[in-house]
Amino acid sequence: MPVSRDNVLDWIKACAKILEENKSYLTDLDSAIGDADHGANMNRGFQAVMNKMPEISDKDIGTIFKTVGMTLLSTVGGAGGPLYGTFFLQIGLKTAGKMELAPEDWLAALEAALNGIVMRGKAELGDKTMVDAITPAVNAFRKSVEAKQSFPVALDAAALAAQKGMEATIPMVARKGRASYLGERSAGHQDPGATSSYLIFKEAAETWANG
Ligand SMILES: Nc1ncnc2c1ncn2[C@@H]1O[C@H](COP(=O)(O)OP(=O)(O)OP(=O)(O)O)[C@@H](O)[C@H]1O
Ligand SMILES: [Mg+2]
Repeated sequence: MPVSRDNVLDWIKACAKILEENKSYLTDLDSAIGDADHGANMNRGFQAVMNKMPEISDKDIGTIFKTVGMTLLSTVGGAGGPLYGTFFLQIGLKTAGKMELAPEDWLAALEAALNGIVMRGKAELGDKTMVDAITPAVNAFRKSVEAKQSFPVALDAAALAAQKGMEATIPMVARKGRASYLGERSAGHQDPGATSSYLIFKEAAETWANG
C-alpha cells in the first residue's frame, strides 16, 4: 500500500509530538557537547509547522513537505534548522504534485534529502552528526526496496539503522558543528542531531506501519 497524504500529515504530527516529548532529552545531549538548544530548536520548529497544518492539509504531498522545510528554515536557528529545512525541502521537491508515495518515491526523496544535508553541511560519515544516523537509514531503506520488501518492512529497517547509527556516534570525536570545538572531549556523548534524526525515522516506521 502506498503512503497517502493523510499518512504524511500523521507523520509530521507524530514528529512534532515526539520532539516535544524529547525536548529535555535532546537539550541534555546538546548541553554535553553543544549549547543546550537542540531540543528547544526542534520543538520550536515543529510547533511552527503544526501552526501551518490548517493551511497545508488539503495540498499535495510536495507542497506539504516544502512548507515544513521552509518553516523549519525560518524558525529554527543554528546548524540544525537549515539542515533539517533542507532535508524536508528536498523531500518536497522530489514529491511535488504527488498525492501518494510508493516505496521508490520515498527512496528518491530520502536520497535527495540526505544529499541536500551533505551538500549544505559538508559532514562526512564519522563526523558525529545527523549524517551518521540518516546515511545508514537511507542505505537500509534502499536495500530493502531493492529486495522488493514491503514499505513497512523497509521503514523498520531504516529506523533500526538510524538507531544503530545514532548509538555509533557515542565514541566518535566531533569534526563538525559546535561539538567539534571540544575535540577529544566530545567522545563518550551521543550526538543530539543524530538522535533527533533517529526519532524522525522511528516515527515514520510507526506511523506508516500499515502502508
Ligand atoms: N555541518 C553539519 N552537518 C550535518 N549536521 C551537523 C553539522 N553541524 C552540526 N550538525 C548537527 O546539528 C546538531 C546541532 O543542532 P542544533 O540545533 O543544536 O544547532 P546548533 O546549536 O546551532 O549547532 P551546533 O551546536 O552544531 O553549532 C548536531 O548535533 C549535529 O548532528
Ligand atoms: Mg545546539
